[in-house]
Amino acid sequence: MISKAVEKAFNEQFKKELFSSYLYLAMSAHFVENNLSGFAHWLRCQSKEELEHAMKFFDYVLERGGNVELQAVDQPPSNWKSYLDAFTQVLEHEQMVTASINKLFEIAAQEKDYAAQIFLQWFITEQVEEEKNATDIVANLKLIDAHGTAVLMLDRQLGKRA
Ligand code: FEO
Repeated sequence: MISKAVEKAFNEQFKKELFSSYLYLAMSAHFVENNLSGFAHWLRCQSKEELEHAMKFFDYVLERGGNVELQAVDQPPSNWKSYLDAFTQVLEHEQMVTASINKLFEIAAQEKDYAAQIFLQWFITEQVEEEKNATDIVANLKLIDAHGTAVLMLDRQLGKRA
């Protein structure tokens, strides 16, 4: 069984993960429109991963006999001032998601829900990687001139993501 508190928090996290997917898909479209196909590819992969994260919460709630309550997903922005602006938002967004996952762990601990805590451990580890990836890209972008060829090199590198 799943407690009402954990069920509610997990349903909210499902929505947040869907928003993450939506946000990165919007960024991906933005970069296609601005001829940076590698950045677009990386963000599209990220969007797909976020959808997988969302579905982990969806499946978990149902497996534990809870009710999935689908909520409206906010509209993401559609424009960013620069690639640094966009990837800084990715990093800030991931930091927000980390805080949200940590909060879920606290709720699961308060509810003495050990299965939920074990389930959330995967997300706690995942967030370390998510923040590191975004931090690295932001650091690279800060190092390169706004119109330098290094941007194109980074674009190609991000385009190789499996
Ligand atoms: Fe689902 Fe990027 O955290």
